[in-house]
Amino acid sequence: MSVTMTGTEVRLGPVDEIPYGEGRAYAVLGRQVAVFRQRTGAVHALSAICPHKGGPLADGQLDDVVVMCPLHANTFELATGCSPSGEKSLTVYPVRVTDDGTIVVTVPPGAETGAPGGPPSSLAESIPTGAPNPGPRETPLETEGAA
Ligand code: FES
Repeated sequence: MSVTMTGTEVRLGPVDEIPYGEGRAYAVLGRQVAVFRQRTGAVHALSAICPHKGGPLADGQLDDVVVMCPLHANTFELATGCSPSGEKSLTVYPVRVTDDGTIVVTVPPGAETGAPGGPPSSLAESIPTGAPNPGPRETPLETEGAA
């Protein structure tokens, strides 16, 4: 982890842990961040919790432009976080892959657990920092206010 002018850079692990065309969720400084690796090799990092009802976006299907939430099929642009299906936008995090193949996400200053766009603290504690999501969940993620 290192602090720069634009935020805190966090090394998440090898990009090869994410198969092409899939995503993985990571806990990053108290936030749930989904990292997606497109079939082209491009990597994007977005908030991992669907603003509709808390769906696990890292488990969604990708195409060249969007990720589709696995619960109710709302879509979000990978590059901008905007939702063509009309949901609130997702936070987009700067992400890069180093020469040695490590994913590095930058969290802006002031980002903390419980901040707007951040996960509930109980969810943030459920996955160790820097650890990939252990796999698809059998039940939807629970978030505060989800009905
Ligand atoms: S929870 Fe994602 S579309 Fe409903």
